[in-house]
Formats: sequence, C-alpha cells, structure tokens
Amino acid sequence: MTDSSKAAIVTGAARGIGHAIVQRLLRAGWRVLAADIDEAAVHSAANQMNAEAGAVCAHRLDVKDPASISAAVETAVSAFGQLNVLINNAGIMDRAPFLEMTEPFWHHVLDTNLTGTFLTSQAAAQQMVAQGMGGRIVNVASNSGIFGGRGRAAYGASKAGIINLTQTMAIELAEHDILVNAVAPGPTKTGDHIPDEPWPTVKARMPLARFGRPEEIANVAYFLASDECSFTTGHVWCADGGYTIAGIMEG
Ligand SMILES: NC(=O)c1ccc[n+]([C@@H]2O[C@H](COP(=O)([O-])OP(=O)(O)OC[C@H]3O[C@@H](n4cnc5c(N)ncnc54)[C@H](O)[C@@H]3O)[C@@H](O)[C@H]2O)c1
Repeated sequence: MTDSSKAAIVTGAARGIGHAIVQRLLRAGWRVLAADIDEAAVHSAANQMNAEAGAVCAHRLDVKDPASISAAVETAVSAFGQLNVLINNAGIMDRAPFLEMTEPFWHHVLDTNLTGTFLTSQAAAQQMVAQGMGGRIVNVASNSGIFGGRGRAAYGASKAGIINLTQTMAIELAEHDILVNAVAPGPTKTGDHIPDEPWPTVKARMPLARFGRPEEIANVAYFLASDECSFTTGHVWCADGGYTIAGIMEG
C-alpha cells in the first residue's frame, strides 16, 4: 500500500476543518468518503471539489448511530475496495454555563463527540484488522480537552475523553499496525461567522496571536494519517499557535 492509493473516511466533512481535511487528502491522491450528518451540505461540498472522478464520495453519517457508521464503512469499502484511514472530525462545540447545564445537553455533546469517536473508531478498526494491512486513525480533539474553559464542561470533558481514548486505542491497536493520534486545534476561523481576530483574552495567551486556518489543521491531520507518520502513536499534536504551551508571556 503506497500513500498515494489510500482510502479514507472523514467525518464532519461538510464544512470547516473536516472539509479542509478532505481537500488535503484528495490533494495527496487519496480516495475519500466525505461523511456528515448534514446530507445536503456534504453532497454540495463534494460536488464542488476539484477531484479526480470517483475520488470523493459523499455520504450521510450520524456518528451517534452504530447502524449509520456500519453503512459508512461498508460504503467506503465497496467504493474503494479497502479502508486505510479514519479521521474522526465530526463534533459539536455547544457551550452552556455549568450551573445551568442540563443532562440532555451533557449527553448530546458527549454522545456526539466522545461516543461518536469511540463507535466510529471501533467500526473502522475492525475493518482495518480484518484487512490485515494496518491503518491510521486521527481524532480531532481540542485545546479545550487540555485545559478548562468557561461554558465548556461538556465540550471539554468530551475532548479530554477523546485524548485518553486516543492513548488507549494506540496501545491496543499497535499489534495490528494501526497508529492512532490526535490533533488538538486551537481557535480556528472556519467561516465568515467567526470574527477576524480572536478575543483579546485569547490572543494574550497565544504566541502566534491569531486564528488558525482550517488548512493548517488539515496539514497536521494529513501528516498523522500518512505513512510519514510511522513511529508516532498515542500522541496529541496541538495545532494552536502555541496556546497550550504558553506560560508567562510578558515580564
Ligand atoms: N473551529 C475551532 O475553533 C475548533 C477548535 C478546536 C477543535 N475543533 C474541533 O474540530 C472539529 C471540526 O470543527 P469545525 O469548527 O470545523 O466545526 P463545524 O461545525 O464547522 O463542522 C462540524 C461538522 O460536523 C458535522 N456533525 C455534527 N454532528 C454530527 C454527527 N452526529 N454525525 C456526523 N457529522 C456531524 C456537522 O454537520 C458539521 O458539518 C470538531 O470536532 C471541533 O470540536 C474546532
């Protein structure tokens, strides 16, 4: 298996970081199942991509639903003959104050971000193990899984859970030559609805002092999914302008 013939599933691929990851993988010559709960948007995004015929295939996927996940894996294998890479990018970033957070809200965020990553990874890994060719799984975590943040009790816990899940999957899947890593984006400008500059309180803690671009997160996800990433597993790569490593910034 050469890097240029890989087949991948990218979840949450209709927009934002997921869309940029699909474009990056296509640029490497990979074949990609672009999967998203927003069926109309993912079809429209795939149609607009300047890809070789048959290289990108749009699919409706709800990462909370095991049957939907099985169907996505089957569709990828039937379209491409194999599955070599999974990028778990689908996520919701909903926030609520801790004292007012309802249990349904908590479950919605945890079910989508953390349980969705578990279920999709397990289905993809089972397929990769059956193929016997190894593989790569890349989980999209967040700065919010590394430190606390206002309104992020559910979101931060879901992303912290993804980081620990990444480490355990890396241990258990190593014998199958499946490498599992995470990228933890910092604040990323995914569209015109995001202001041009991060909040001053965020900028003050960030050495690069700007929003990330979706392509910058996609480049890291691509590396972690590629054969060039061959001796790194269970790692969390912060693509965040230095946000998580910054201590004293002045004085
Ligand atoms: N944008 C940021 O600043 C930032 C920072 C850190 C981490 N992240 C993470 O990066 C990932 C992508 O973020 P984004 O900013 O591009 O978000 P986005 O909202 O632009 O895109 C997320 C996509 O996931 C899809 N999705 C939601 N629930 C789904 C489900 N149940 N099944 C399948 N697809 C589903 C949505 O339809 C959407 O297309 C998320 O996991 C997010 O937590 C983003």
